[in-house]
This record gives sequence, C-alpha cells and structure tokens, in this order.
Amino acid sequence: MAGDDERGGRLFDSWRSEANPRQFEPDAKGTAGVPDGKGGPRGDGTLLFADGRPLLNDEGHDYRFKNLFGWDLRGPAGIYGPAQQNKKSLLGVDLLAWPGDATALADRLEKGDAQIPAFGPVMERSDLEALASFVVAVRDGKLPRPDQLFRLTSPAQQNYALVEGASAERGKQLYAQRCTGCHGADGTRMLFDKGAYSLGSHARQKAYEDWAKILNGHPGSAMKRQVRGATGKEMTQELLDLLAALCDRSAFPRGTASQPDVPDGDPRCGGYLR
Ligand code: HEC
Repeated sequence: MAGDDERGGRLFDSWRSEANPRQFEPDAKGTAGVPDGKGGPRGDGTLLFADGRPLLNDEGHDYRFKNLFGWDLRGPAGIYGPAQQNKKSLLGVDLLAWPGDATALADRLEKGDAQIPAFGPVMERSDLEALASFVVAVRDGKLPRPDQLFRLTSPAQQNYALVEGASAERGKQLYAQRCTGCHGADGTRMLFDKGAYSLGSHARQKAYEDWAKILNGHPGSAMKRQVRGATGKEMTQELLDLLAALCDRSAFPRGTASQPDVPDGDPRCGGYLR
C-alpha cells in the first residue's frame, strides 16, 4: 500500500479542513463531560475507543491528530509531552514507535483500540491509508524526521532548538523562488493565528509546527507541499535551510503582528538568529 503521504500530512494536521464527507461536528470544547456535537458513531460528535468509551473534546483537540499525537508525532516523548509543553490532549501514543507497516497502522486508526479511538466511522479508508503512509514515511526517514530538524530542550529553553547544518543563504533563495508569490518578500503579507504572527515571527517560535506546514501544505488552502527533494535527506535540508532563513528578524520581520517577536539570545533559532 502506498497512500498519498503529502495529503496524509495535511490530514494529520487537520483532517476536517481537507475532507468532511461524513458530516462530523466534534463535541464542543469545555462542556465538562457533555457530548454535544453531531455525527460519529453515537451521533453526538464523539469517537469511541474499542471498549465503547467516548473520547470527549473538553480540552478542544477537535480530533486533530496533531493535538492527539503532537506536531512531531511522538506523543508523550515529543514536544507536547509532559517534559515540554504538557498538553492534556495527548493520547499517550508515540506514533514514531509504531513497529508495523502503513496498512496495519491504517487498520489501527480505522478500528481503534484501548489507546486510540476509531476514526473509521468518520474518515475514508483511503484517507486513513494516506495518513498512515505519512507517519511511516516520517518514521523511516523517507520524509524528514522532526528530530533531524529540531531537538527537544527544557521549557526554560523554550522546548526546542533547530539543529546545526543549515544554509540560511540557500534558504533565502528557496524562499524567494517558492514563497514570495503568496507570502510576500518579507513574509508579512498574511498574518497567522488571528493576526498574532507574521511568517517569520511564527517560524522563530513554532518551527516544530512549521516544518509540517512547509512539508505538506496548509490544510484547506492553496499551499501544498513546498519541498522538492527526491529523498528524505534532500527534503530535510530544504526545510532546515528555509527555517534557518526565517530566523532573520530584519529579512522576515514581525510586521504588524500582535505577538512580540523573539528577543536577542532566544534559543529556538540557535546560531541562525539574526
Ligand atoms: C500558493 C500560495 C502559497 C505558497 C506558494 C506558499 N504558501 Fe504558505 N500559506 C499559504 C496560505 C494560503 C496559508 C494559510 C494562511 C491561513 O489561512 O492561515 C499558508 C500558511 C503557511 C504557514 C502556516 C502558518 C500557520 O500559522 O499556520 C507556513 C509556516 C507557511 N505557509 C510557510 C510557507 C513557506 C515557507 C513557503 C515557501 C517554501 C510557502 N508557505 C509557500 C499560501 C502559500
């Protein structure tokens, strides 16, 4: 089985933005144990573990895989885990530790088990296969692995730091060729998170998220995969070069974004911070 791993990556980010053929409206956030959505196996916007227990949405994960497993796919071992951002939405599964193939992972996501609710009632099999192909390709290094892009640090060190070995110069050229048309030459044409970030200020604070956006595209938007390398290694280098380039606060300023930019010495960009 070879699912479409690019689409799979966008489904991992936000499957309901890419496809919603079965009219699933998740249980609303913060309604303290009351399932009040639409669709799904019980018709109330919940999905069920294998024992029939519903996964409620009280913390607002909205059944996005990135909220259930983390942007780096590593669950409790990753950036959303207890030692870093400590997100309550994690299911406790490290997807990169999955030992099987993509077909077996698609089966697991379709049917659910004690740790993962069944997505079969709300997602197409082909989409589950695409998603599983994405996970397995990242695990096997056929796509960039998040640990080749950033390493985890302590919360006092802002949780992560980009790894060495990037060429910010090449990243700047790639940006000019591939991104300027939509994001503007300095990345301020569109702001993100309701005006909170420019592209640069976002990448300097959330590269653990942006690697996935650049690799797979932004769900439900015109932005598709932006890397062109033939191997995981080449794609990793493109991502790292772009992320290093975006660490330049003069070339990619905050613009009119409402959230402050990173200060001098912020550890996330490491030696790439300008
Ligand atoms: C075809 C137009 C297009 C191209 C080309 C494009 N983008 Fe995007 N990008 C978008 C759109 C549209 C969004 C979604 C904006 C939104 O709705 O928040 C987006 C979102 C993003 C995000 C997500 C930010 C967030 O907070 O969610 C990142 C990161 C990003 N783009 C980086 C890049 C980089 C780097 C390149 C070049 C390698 C690039 N984009 C090329 C259109 C494009």
